[in-house]
Amino acid sequence: MLQQAELIGFPTDISSRHASDRHPVFKNIITANPRMERIFRMIEKLATSGSTVLITGESGTGKELIARAIHELSDSTGHLVPVNCGAIPDNLLESELFGHEKGAFTGAISSRPGRFVMADNGTIFLDEIGEMTPSLQVKLLRVIQDKVVESVGGVKPRSVNVRIIAATNRNLLDQVKEGKFREDLFYRLQVVPIELPSLRERPEDIELLVNFFSKKYAEENDRRPLVFSVEAMAALKAYNWPGNIRELENLIERLTVLVDGDAVYETDLPTRIANYSSQVAFDPMMALLPESGVDFNALVDGFENSLIIQALERTNGNKKAAARLLNLNRTTLVEKIKKKGLEVRRDPEEQNSL
Ligand SMILES: Nc1ncnc2c1ncn2[C@@H]1O[C@H](COP(=O)(O)OP(=O)(O)OP(=O)(O)O)[C@@H](O)[C@H]1O
Ligand SMILES: [Mg+2]
Repeated sequence: MLQQAELIGFPTDISSRHASDRHPVFKNIITANPRMERIFRMIEKLATSGSTVLITGESGTGKELIARAIHELSDSTGHLVPVNCGAIPDNLLESELFGHEKGAFTGAISSRPGRFVMADNGTIFLDEIGEMTPSLQVKLLRVIQDKVVESVGGVKPRSVNVRIIAATNRNLLDQVKEGKFREDLFYRLQVVPIELPSLRERPEDIELLVNFFSKKYAEENDRRPLVFSVEAMAALKAYNWPGNIRELENLIERLTVLVDGDAVYETDLPTRIANYSSQVAFDPMMALLPESGVDFNALVDGFENSLIIQALERTNGNKKAAARLLNLNRTTLVEKIKKKGLEVRRDPEEQNSL
């Protein structure tokens, strides 16, 4: 049986930690990460401007959450209308976005307004914008430039006043270089670029998020919040979270339902998480090769990632300083960061002030 001192959990008030000066809109966006804090400050400044925003970040990093915060902070009177451009078949997306007239195509038995019209005086959230076909990209460009929409089969353009927030987990600039995404549209969209860090770039958020979701799902399931053994929490912190916050949230929801009692031990965690931790926690200077052997590549990779992330965090993303800390050439470090997808970029606000 674990002693209370060995358990991690029962936070007092997570949302107020490191967040006393935050706007209430951000109360459900849990973070103690300096890059995220800078994004919050930028959002507060831009929210009422109506500028087009492009949010990038890996899957599950909170792009939709941030889009909602921007909309809520704006002074617009309309709705936030989300459209998942990747989930709607190409041939239907145009009428979904811009509407259609009766008889415009087979099955169009009555006219229907599109999502742009539904978002009039509000915000349209174009999720997975990288999936949009070139012909629709042209039409979207026209909406941005002329502030009018033309429904499928319609003859009269209708003017709309809609703030556009687009999001993607792809690298749109790469898509531009490959000729898959229009350069002019790219620059029109990223008037304000927001790049959300992955969860592995914000390790300080893991415990806060674990406690936040434990509390949330405890309330939903009418039980006490989970507490985590020191080893279990260490495993959660060491894992690389490819699915980011969504993956962590799903795990806590599942544990809340499945674990007997309140305490979560390392053995309650999925093996991919428990094993990952034992490999990363492996101290290369002290280690003896275990009888069972090791996964050499995963081990070396995890160790490299951990050192690079620590160096970038400590130098606030300054690669020259991070390379010095690691005694590497800057170019070698840059190549590794790119290959491993560990980019820690400074936000535009900071870049402008340089
Ligand atoms: N900082 C955070 N604090 C609390 N919950 C968060 C945070 N970031 C994300 N979440 C939660 O994680 C889940 C995923 O977030 P969201 O849907 O915004 O991610 P996304 O970047 O849009 O993902 P995808 O690219 O897969 O669409 C949501 O349930 C969201 O509420
Ligand atoms: Mg999303």
